[in-house]
Amino acid sequence: MPSNQFDHKQQAWSALFSEPMHECVQRYTASVSFDQRLWKVDIAASLAHAEMLCHQGILCPQDYADICRGMETITQEIESGSFVWKWELEDVHLNLEARLTALVGDAGKRLHTGRSRNDQVATDVRLWLRAEIDKLILALAALQRALVEVAAEHVDVILPGFTHLQVAQPVSFAHHLLAYVEMFDRDTQRLREVRRRTNHLPLGAAALAGTSYPLDRERVACTLGMVDEQGCPQLCQNSIDAVSDRDFAIEFTASASLCMVHLSRFSEELVLWTSQQFGFVRIADRFTTGSSIMPQKKNPDVAELARGKTGRVVGHLMGLLMLMKGQPLAYNKDNQEDKEPLFDTVDTLWNTLRIFAEMIGGQIDPQTGHKEGGLQLCSAAMASAARVGFSTATDLADYLVRKGLPFRDAHEIVARAVREAIATNTDLCEWPLERLQSLHPHIQEDVYTAISLRGALESRHTVGGTAPNRVREQLARHAQRLACLLK
Ligand code: ARG
Repeated sequence: MPSNQFDHKQQAWSALFSEPMHECVQRYTASVSFDQRLWKVDIAASLAHAEMLCHQGILCPQDYADICRGMETITQEIESGSFVWKWELEDVHLNLEARLTALVGDAGKRLHTGRSRNDQVATDVRLWLRAEIDKLILALAALQRALVEVAAEHVDVILPGFTHLQVAQPVSFAHHLLAYVEMFDRDTQRLREVRRRTNHLPLGAAALAGTSYPLDRERVACTLGMVDEQGCPQLCQNSIDAVSDRDFAIEFTASASLCMVHLSRFSEELVLWTSQQFGFVRIADRFTTGSSIMPQKKNPDVAELARGKTGRVVGHLMGLLMLMKGQPLAYNKDNQEDKEPLFDTVDTLWNTLRIFAEMIGGQIDPQTGHKEGGLQLCSAAMASAARVGFSTATDLADYLVRKGLPFRDAHEIVARAVREAIATNTDLCEWPLERLQSLHPHIQEDVYTAISLRGALESRHTVGGTAPNRVREQLARHAQRLACLLK
């Protein structure tokens, strides 16, 4: 027998073919090495389909019972690691079907009635992604909780807020962290939206046109939990669309990309903040790495890798968009290429969220019951960084406005003062009152409070501002929201 032929071929379409598939082609087209990950949802969808076939009288109760029994055995085999995956059976669907038929005979061959791998795989990927989205939403909530907990302890810690990476105005450290909580909250909302659209049933579309069997698609949707908040079954309403589009996977990857971009921005800040130049925070040793040559080094590798992995996830988004752009309707084998980028996107985001939650929030020490190993702050370094760069210059201008000057004039006066302070290497806060009064005679003793870091912080009390009381309001709102999510 030539090396490109197999005696164990049992392919569904064999009778038409005059020769077996070339070995290279078999290997090229096989997806079982990665899509075996879908086995659980594939079985769940098959059981829902079989139950409906039986209910509709398309399959006899004995066949249905045999299918259930066979699937139970297969589940045990896969879980115990004894299941033999065969790459020559191409994908997860054909592997499971072949094993089922080997176990229960004709009932296994009847399972595929009214179904195609096209609607089968579309259903599997949707079911799998739905469950992963639920896990990611919880992981996002855990990270937000970690951020909120650290923030709650550091409302009064002041660091310089930056624009253009130049010292801008003092902000509360908690306020800064809560900016990320807002981002992760929106990421969660996006994932919920994607979940809603993902949770629609393709089964019943068959190859592309629907099927002649009297299927009850609503029943299958209900069995698989593909229902809306009111419990109404959610069906893909066009069979051609059902088997061909992967927009749910693309919009998931887009949402995941955005979330990774948020994590990447945070990572960049952690890299800066842990550097000797900033020295704002310390990360627990178990989240850092050393250098093989420089004994003094502790590198923020997790943050750097998260920043790097963001490129990889955004790359998957581009890959999936390109995968779709040239495909005519309906199903094309191109779609088999949706899985690896999708799986890797889920894994990368999941791992990043989990590791960040612990790196920021720490972990409960079973001995002491206290949290340890979370982000450590060096508030003195933050405050002294906030003191350089005239971070309260705006506050002096605002002070003059309160004394009756137009803002533009006040801005000009302070700009000149800052210029003089730079030239004389002094800080406006240290200028004696007479010197400040030379800027404008309305300036009084109370100017020192106005241009102190604390005064500047407290004055920014608009909704969403950095004033500690406003920050506490936001903390309470987030804590309540997250308690509902995580209960
Ligand atoms: N492994 C295939 C995929 O992932 C399953 C569907 C194959 N359908 C087909 N007609 N060849 O897309």
